[in-house]
Amino acid sequence: MPTQQKSLLLLEKQGPFAIQNTDIPEPGPGELLVEIHATALNPVDWKIQVYGIFIQDYPAVLGQDAAGIVKELGEGVASFAVGDKVLHQGYFTNRNATFQQYTTVPAEIVAKIPPNLTLNQASTIPLTLATASCGLYNTKSNSGAGFLAPWEEGGLGKYAGQPILVIGGSSSVGQHVIQVAKLSGFSPIITTASARNEGYLKSLGATHVLDRNAIPLSSLSGAVKDITLEPIKLVYDAISETDTQNTSYDILASGGKIVIVLSPAIDESKRTADKEVVSAAGNVHIPAQRAVGVSLYKNLTALLKAGDIKPNNVELVPNGLKGIPVALEKLRAGVSALKLVARPLETP
Ligand SMILES: NC(=O)c1ccc[n+]([C@@H]2O[C@H](COP(=O)([O-])OP(=O)(O)OC[C@H]3O[C@@H](n4cnc5c(N)ncnc54)[C@H](OP(=O)(O)O)[C@@H]3O)[C@@H](O)[C@H]2O)c1
Repeated sequence: MPTQQKSLLLLEKQGPFAIQNTDIPEPGPGELLVEIHATALNPVDWKIQVYGIFIQDYPAVLGQDAAGIVKELGEGVASFAVGDKVLHQGYFTNRNATFQQYTTVPAEIVAKIPPNLTLNQASTIPLTLATASCGLYNTKSNSGAGFLAPWEEGGLGKYAGQPILVIGGSSSVGQHVIQVAKLSGFSPIITTASARNEGYLKSLGATHVLDRNAIPLSSLSGAVKDITLEPIKLVYDAISETDTQNTSYDILASGGKIVIVLSPAIDESKRTADKEVVSAAGNVHIPAQRAVGVSLYKNLTALLKAGDIKPNNVELVPNGLKGIPVALEKLRAGVSALKLVARPLETP
């Protein structure tokens, strides 16, 4: 094993990125050392650089999604072997982040990759599946809507016949909300997206795809009523801009829950006690989300193997870690039903 690796470092708050040699971290008790073959880019990565949020210590390694190969086992790890292909979420510390060639991670939030997925595909899953799952299934804190996860006993199909509205179904988060909602039995699964993504989203489990370019948010309530007259008691707003949050809240029926992924932006004047607003925190490393994560990762290999959870579409970023800063600008400009994936070992 080498002792040094290449990491992409954000040198200072809102500063530039640079590739530098850093020490390869050692796995602590219960951890794995993973050689990262693929890391997916997320909006939070460019938001950290642009807005200076979430991270205090610089230089900082960013990156939240990894797929790779287990290189070392920390003390007490029995469920993995050196050489296993795995996927996992990264975290906001240099030893756990993924825009580098090696990272450490607690083994309880890692899953083996079944043969039907490539490493590139697997890297598209962790962060956004966590956001979908924690937002819907966390019962422990106010960051989850408290539904029973479909991988728990009695959870599969439990919510049959209950509608869900997913704003932004073709976003990376939205794609996973659709897939887990299908496993939970929610029906119909109504989502908004560009028309070109309709077939893809139906293949993931959406029953109705409303063209967001043809139906303005002011007409969304009517379009949903044309599909079902059941009260909409669950909305997952995977976009969570001010206008989508307010429209979602208006559509939400009394007694319902809306899950949002950005800061609350619902007009205080329209807030009522009978509608619950849940802020999703898609991170299985933190204590409040850990139980959902551990349970999800215990079942994830089987879900992937069965095709119950599918990866996003992959576009490879050229030049390994070196290509990430430019790719983050592309992500900020907007992608559609697509994940940008870098290969850290291919850094020139
Ligand atoms: N709270 C958390 O822990 C957490 C975790 C992950 C992500 N997030 C946040 O969640 C948001 C989504 O992240 P992501 O990675 O899923 O984004 P993404 O994949 O980059 O989102 C791109 C997609 O957004 C869709 N879209 C854009 N505006 C829309 C609108 N007004 N209505 C419906 N669809 C719209 C586009 O759909 P079409 O191309 O079909 O038009 C496109 O497919 C980001 O703001 C991110 O920072 C939060």
